[in-house]
Amino acid sequence: MSKSDVRKFTEDQVKNLYADVHSYILQRWAPRPGYEPPIVVKEKGLDFWDARGKKWLDFQSQLFNVNIGMHNKKVIEACKKQLDELVYASPTYPTLPKIKLCKKLAQIAPGDLCKTFLSNSGTEAIETALKLAILYKERKKIIGLWRAYHGSTFGAMSIGGSKWVRSPTLPLIAEFDHIPPPYCYRCPFDMDYPSCGIQCAKNLKYVLEQEAANSVAAFLGEPIMSGGGLLVPPDEYWPMIRKICDEKDIVLINDEVMTGFARTGKMFAPEHWNYAPDIDVFAKGITSGYIPMGATMVNKRIADHFEDKSFGHSFTYSGHAVACTAALATIDQYYELKLIDNCAKRGKYIMEGLKGIQERTSIIGDVRGKGLFLGIEMVKHRETKEGLAPLELVKPDPETNPMVYLQDRCSDEGLAFGMSMGGSIVRMTPALIVIEEQIDQALQIFEKAINATEEKFSLPTKE
Ligand SMILES: Cc1ncc(COP(=O)(O)O)c(C=O)c1O
Repeated sequence: MSKSDVRKFTEDQVKNLYADVHSYILQRWAPRPGYEPPIVVKEKGLDFWDARGKKWLDFQSQLFNVNIGMHNKKVIEACKKQLDELVYASPTYPTLPKIKLCKKLAQIAPGDLCKTFLSNSGTEAIETALKLAILYKERKKIIGLWRAYHGSTFGAMSIGGSKWVRSPTLPLIAEFDHIPPPYCYRCPFDMDYPSCGIQCAKNLKYVLEQEAANSVAAFLGEPIMSGGGLLVPPDEYWPMIRKICDEKDIVLINDEVMTGFARTGKMFAPEHWNYAPDIDVFAKGITSGYIPMGATMVNKRIADHFEDKSFGHSFTYSGHAVACTAALATIDQYYELKLIDNCAKRGKYIMEGLKGIQERTSIIGDVRGKGLFLGIEMVKHRETKEGLAPLELVKPDPETNPMVYLQDRCSDEGLAFGMSMGGSIVRMTPALIVIEEQIDQALQIFEKAINATEEKFSLPTKE
């Protein structure tokens, strides 16, 4: 795409647009008075352009969802065709795209996950999973992981373990409880792998044994926790959790809103560890953002249970025909463009690059991830491991907050990436079509921004 294809706005027009942004759009998370996020007007591949005509390199896949890259012609054409043919039917009536999509998901999903309830977002898909587990087991309690983010509605916030998300609206659902996550860089049990014996997994068993008999319906976790800090568990973790759930007769729910659909170098993250959940939750990469969609899949046992029992649950836009078409076309793209393979290969390349930056600079504490799902934990000093900056949800200021400064320096050069709510953690998650030149460019900008941050705040500091 050439620069001339991008719609041009005068500076006065841009100023008016920002005035409207500030007057009419309710801000999310951390408001920064006067801050001007890019007003996105055009997108292609990993690039997008803002109203000022500036080109950005997107290493966040927008909101970790545009896995196949922006403006994929095949998906857009498929959606246009579907719009001409059939736009919407009540969820009471199956449509051809809905039938085809649910069948496709059953063919590619882990284990014996076989039936799908479609929704419009990850949050709705999580809510669906919680309700399914509670009804299936006829028990009220669900255990999740501290630090996790599963969405912003009350059920999702309750099972989520992010204090930033939970605190403002406490109390939440009292029956939902949490255990510490597998966070090796800052082990909650103050132990080291492998001598820890995977205490974080064993802790689930311990907690279940303290609970009243038949009170816990399910355990819910992301195969690799995203919002909580891009936490890659030890290889033993998920097989151990699977075994504990079986022994204790509870449902294992995975939240694969982030990790699903090739993001980690496998189509679904449980494939890394050879296990399957009983309920799996998808969104984001299922349609790559072309149309919103969430999906909750259940295994045969749970599917059979609901053959003759009511599942009182409905969304008007459950299985919207155009969304199903977008999902089918997106799934085709993962295979046609060999994106699973590309993700694994480019993931290794970017990981090597990041390790190199870690050696040449002093404020990267840890680099971790799988495929193109990468986390970089920033510290003031590697020995003390003190986080580079606390998360500030109110008026974060680049003059005093090194994480915000770092991100702003990258923005100056047109590099977009994500931060984790769980602390000083950068998330790099480019679209799976990324090529080496784009990685080199992004890493160059990132390293320069780190150098600028070290200089500005006289880092590393030992406090
Ligand atoms: C792991 C996880 N689960 C659930 C959600 C909620 O998804 P959505 O924003 O589509 O409602 C998110 C959102 O980022 C997420 O990261």
